[in-house]
Amino acid sequence: MSLFNVYPLNPIAITKAAGSRVWDDKGQEYLDMYGGHAVISIGHTHPHWIKRIEDQLHAIAFYSNSVILPIQEQLATALNDISGKKDYQLFLCNSGAEANENALKLASFHTGRKKIIAFKKSFHGRTSLAVAATDNPGIVAPVNETDNIIFLPFNDVEALNTCFEKEGANIAAVIIEGIQGVAGIYEASILFLQAIRKACDTYGAVYIADSVQCGYGRTGQFFAHDFAGVNADIYSMAKGMGNGFPIGGILIAPHIQAKFGMLGTTFGGNPTACAAALAVIEVMQSENLISAAKQKGDYLIKALKEIDGIKVVRGRGLMIGFEMQTGLEDVRKVLLNELKIFTGEAKPNVIRLLPSLAISMQEIDLFLNGLKKAIQLIKQN
Ligand SMILES: Cc1ncc(COP(=O)(O)O)c(C=O)c1O
Repeated sequence: MSLFNVYPLNPIAITKAAGSRVWDDKGQEYLDMYGGHAVISIGHTHPHWIKRIEDQLHAIAFYSNSVILPIQEQLATALNDISGKKDYQLFLCNSGAEANENALKLASFHTGRKKIIAFKKSFHGRTSLAVAATDNPGIVAPVNETDNIIFLPFNDVEALNTCFEKEGANIAAVIIEGIQGVAGIYEASILFLQAIRKACDTYGAVYIADSVQCGYGRTGQFFAHDFAGVNADIYSMAKGMGNGFPIGGILIAPHIQAKFGMLGTTFGGNPTACAAALAVIEVMQSENLISAAKQKGDYLIKALKEIDGIKVVRGRGLMIGFEMQTGLEDVRKVLLNELKIFTGEAKPNVIRLLPSLAISMQEIDLFLNGLKKAIQLIKQN
């Protein structure tokens, strides 16, 4: 049987990983500046993460959400602590799309309304409502099409306020990434996030902070949206949450009340996933990875800005995008094929860096030297 061919693959078979390095089936080592798409937060195969999961497997791997699972409560407490969202409630699921799907659904239940404001170039996942709120018609199936989503220009306060003035009574939620990832690393401005908070308060809508890619400490703050100094009503999380073990969740403000049956899942919040997520938080705290993400990110961004051949650098902490000058568009290919360095991309020409928060300064320098070498190689040819 063949695999369903939906991914344009790099012809490299990865079979082993540790920290910020991965190896292929021939033993070739690669530096991982991509973190498996922002998923590897504390480093591949971190020993504490492995031990936590192993211990959990010996105790109990799975039971359903029909009984008390104490490890879920431990995770909720740890998340309250690390995120600073003291009275928020936790609902657990398995992925980023599911987290946003539940967030949007919950906002609609809570307000009794149908309309969602999302933004141009946004990406929120591939389930029904999450994909409808994603600005990419190519991945929206006919059955997902709905007129309940209103797409507005990103960072445009006037367009936001005009829309609320017209449609305010029908708006259930505004969903926004703190830094648009798939679009190519574009930060939501502080003024814009503050305007969203204000409009949601005025019209009784729910502010959903999609933190699936930009969250979990990657920017030097647990949630990137919080740089604006205002709280969201719901934060969605996934990617870095399990360091590769599938888990997602939403943090829900105290004024949004649960009702039996309104949300639910079989696998969400299973003990093994919770053990992986707890291990991630424990390592983030013991290794001070969130402040490290800021320091390393500042260093990397400054160094990138000084490299001849780079047109523009965007981002915060360890969520960085940069564009090469004309003639150097192949740099990403050269980095991978010649210098054995994985990076991410955003179409058409943004290189995305989403490394583990535990990447070392030596590895960052290794990347910077590799990048300069790649530029040199292209210029020579
Ligand atoms: C901002 C954002 N939201 C949601 C998702 C969807 O997450 P998942 O692929 O885990 O469903 C992604 C994935 O890239 C994302 O970047």
